[in-house]
Formats: sequence, structure tokens, C-alpha cells
Amino acid sequence: MFQDSSFSAWPAALKVSGLGALRVGLVGTGVVGSGTCQLLARNADLIAQRVGRPIRLVMAAARDLHKAAQVVGPDVDLVSDPLALVRHPDIDVVVEVMGGVTLAKTLVLEAIAQGKHVVTANKALLAEHGSEIFAAAQTQGVIVAYEGAVAVSIPIIKALREGLAANRIYEVVGIVNGTTNFILTHMQETGMGFDAALRQATALGFAEADPSFDIEGVDAAHKTALLAAIAFGADVPFAQVHAQGITRVEAWDMVCAQALGYRIKLLGVARQRSESIEVRVHPALVPEKHLLAQVQGSMNGIWVNADAAGPTFHYGAGAGSLTTASAVVADLMDVARLASAGLSARVPYRSVQASAIQSWPLLPIGQVASRHYLRFALHERPELLTCLPGWLQSAGVEVQQWAHVRHPENVRQDALVVLTQSLTGDDLANRLKALPQMQGFAAPAAVWRVEDLNSSAM
Ligand SMILES: NC(=O)c1ccc[n+]([C@@H]2O[C@H](COP(=O)([O-])OP(=O)(O)OC[C@H]3O[C@@H](n4cnc5c(N)ncnc54)[C@H](OP(=O)(O)O)[C@@H]3O)[C@@H](O)[C@H]2O)c1
Repeated sequence: MFQDSSFSAWPAALKVSGLGALRVGLVGTGVVGSGTCQLLARNADLIAQRVGRPIRLVMAAARDLHKAAQVVGPDVDLVSDPLALVRHPDIDVVVEVMGGVTLAKTLVLEAIAQGKHVVTANKALLAEHGSEIFAAAQTQGVIVAYEGAVAVSIPIIKALREGLAANRIYEVVGIVNGTTNFILTHMQETGMGFDAALRQATALGFAEADPSFDIEGVDAAHKTALLAAIAFGADVPFAQVHAQGITRVEAWDMVCAQALGYRIKLLGVARQRSESIEVRVHPALVPEKHLLAQVQGSMNGIWVNADAAGPTFHYGAGAGSLTTASAVVADLMDVARLASAGLSARVPYRSVQASAIQSWPLLPIGQVASRHYLRFALHERPELLTCLPGWLQSAGVEVQQWAHVRHPENVRQDALVVLTQSLTGDDLANRLKALPQMQGFAAPAAVWRVEDLNSSAM
């Protein structure tokens, strides 16, 4: 049988330091909270062996105590006031899986003030108030762990903070929202429009009753802001992160993009420029051979380009009860291991020591350069096919690649699609405005960015 010799040394060392069970207080017993209870119970022995001490759920806070009792079992104290849990002297670490921002922030700051470690899966909270929370934790010498906040079954925060710690990170580009990826995949596979695909996602449980945070790109922007903060050791003011969702993506554009060798995905892009960073979320064309283009359904994928490791790709489920619990419990195990280490011995929250956190300006979206995809409706005027490339060229818009795509059912949808040279959004808009107003010319029916990843066919 496999024996890890390093394990045999741990328990003795821990006994000497007098560490007992790590006592957990859980706020929220919904999807993530229930998975956390289940995983802590199911793998209790294995977890204790791996960290050298048990991790014990001792208290939970919920609104509906009857429902919560079914989740946590008979040995866990239940309270309806989460502040009472946070302040309880028998709790070492607070797991915040309640969601929302206002109360969650109060609870997390109070837990920190009480000298307790915090594990949270709340990306909205950290994207909007992470700087304040991490600064408070630093002052109090406690841990705030948040692997469950981004692409849950992918240990991407660990990968960036630890596995790739020796690297300069150039870019992190991810599909980090399963709901929108499910909808886009469904549109691609069936030719269905956005509204019908959203209804399908809701019926199958891939979209929430109110899907606005997902479809408007806000959830992906929260996650991308967190990834950028870790990748670049930076403060990322969430209000400046560009977020555009998928509500305006048409199934017809997916067909047209495919004719050029691309797929349309909702991407979260965090990229280091020489004196600024880009942090943005929007639909974009991805080369169809790139691994990101292969991420289908509700799955997540994150591509990281780093100076020593080169490109790496991280893939897995982005939501779910046990999948998120996997990240939450791993964080608890880290807390169990690291709680006794001093601040300087721990991996810093944002991958750099607090004194080294950068304030890179965020490049406004209009100043971000990329190639663009333009779709022009031909409107039963095939002669536009011959005129348009010349008109575009005369306005300074290079046609690097083009295709005439015929709609199988509706000739009025026939399109000329082109890929331009790399231009900023503002520059492209100005050049298109300057196009000669020829008879029959109409502005493009759709404009999307192309994300040319540095090694596009990994
Ligand atoms: N679901 C996922 O796959 C997933 C993945 C990654 C991260 N997350 C994040 O994890 C967090 C929780 O998500 P979830 O899906 O588990 O949500 P959820 O199923 O709605 O569960 C939320 C829980 O919090 C409780 N709660 C809400 N307000 C409360 C209050 N004032 N006092 C006490 N308890 C309160 C709810 O109690 P009642 O049931 O009694 O209302 C419920 O048990 C969110 O920040 C989310 O963004 C979720």
C-alpha cells in the first residue's frame, strides 16, 4: 500500500503544538453550504489524515432552521443570527456561503475583527470589497481563503498564487461563467436564438430564476477582477471593469464566425500591458482550434500565459454543490495547516506582499486594441460584395479575412463577414464613421472583438 513518509512526521509535530480540531461555523446552508457539510462528513478521516487534525463543523446559521437541520445533521448547533455565530468563542473559522454583499461584508469584517479565519465563495463580495477585507485580515493576522469564488472545481487561485508563483503572468483568459457558456453552446449547436436558449438553460437548471448577473456578464466580471488582482498583484477597482454580456449575440453570428474558423465565447480577459492592465468581459471570437473554443456546455476553462511556464490550460466545472465544496473544504484544510504559521510564512492573498500591491490603471475598453469581426447584411444587394472591401480599405479598415455566408433559409440574412487588422474600439468606430456614405451602405449589423491568444492552437 502507498505510504507517504512525510505524513508520518506531521501528527507528532502537530500534537506538540497542541492543535485540536479546527472548529467551523457555517453561514448559509444552501447549494454550497450543503455540499460543504456533505464533503466534510464524507471524507472526514481522509481530511484529518491529510492536514493532521480534524475539521469539525460545530455551528451553522440559516434563516430557515428547520430546513438547515436536515442539511447539517443533529450534532451541529443552529442559530438564526449569523452575527452570533461569527462572535461565538468556539468558532475558529467562519465559512461564508450565504451570498449577497451587504450582510456578508459585515459578517466577514466582524469575523476578522474577532480574530477568526474566513473561507468564502462570494466573488461579488471580494471583487467589490476585497481590498478592505484583505487589509483588515492582514492587520489581524488571519486568513481569508476564496478558492470557491472562481471556477470552483479548478484550483485556479492556487495555481496563480502558488504553482505559478515564480512566473510573470502575461494574461489570463477564461470562460468563467457556466450559464452563459451553456447558452452559447446551445445556440451554436441548435441554431436557436438567445431567448429560446436562455429558456432552455432555465428549464434544465443551468440558469437561475433571475439570470441577469450571468447574462449581463457581471458574474464573469467579478471573477475576472479577482483573477486579475492575483495574476498581477494589483488592486482592481471593480467599477472600472468593462462587462458586456451575451444578450446581443445572434445565432447567425455564430454561423458566420464559424465560416471564418472561429467560435463566439463570453471571455474574461485580464492582460498586462506595459503601463496598464486590461480587465474586461465581453463576447469574443476565439480561434476554433484553441482549447478555450472547445469548452462546451456549462464547463469552465482558463488559459494562462506565463513567462516561464508558458501557456497552461485549466478546465473543470464552474458551479455546483459538491464541486464548490471541493474548493471550500480545500481552503479549510489550508486554514487548518497554515493557521499556526505567521503572516510572512503564508502565501499572500494577492500573490504579492501587501506593500507591493500595484495600482495599475485599467485601460478603458475603447482603447483596447484587437482585431474585429464585422458582419454586413447584404440585403439582396450582392454588388455590395464587390464594393464593401474597397470602401473599408479606403477608410483604413484592412480586410484580413472575409467570407460570403449564405443563410440557408432567408436570403435577406446573407452576409459579408470580415476580420479587420488590430484597431482600438474607438479607432474602428471613427474609421467606420468616415466611410463614404455610398448608396446602399449600412453600418455593420454586428461587431465583435477577436481574441487572438498568443499561442492560439495549443
Ligand atoms: N451555487 C454555486 O454553484 C456557487 C459556486 C461558486 C460560488 N458560489 C457562491 O456561494 C455563495 C452561496 O451560493 P449558493 O448557491 O449556495 O446560494 P443559496 O443556495 O441561495 O444558499 C444561500 C444560503 O444562505 C442562507 N442565507 C441567506 N441570507 C441569510 C441570512 N440573512 N442569514 C442566514 N442565512 C442566510 C440561505 O438561507 P435560506 O435557505 O433559509 O434562505 C441559504 O441557506 C454565493 O456567494 C455564490 O456566489 C455559488
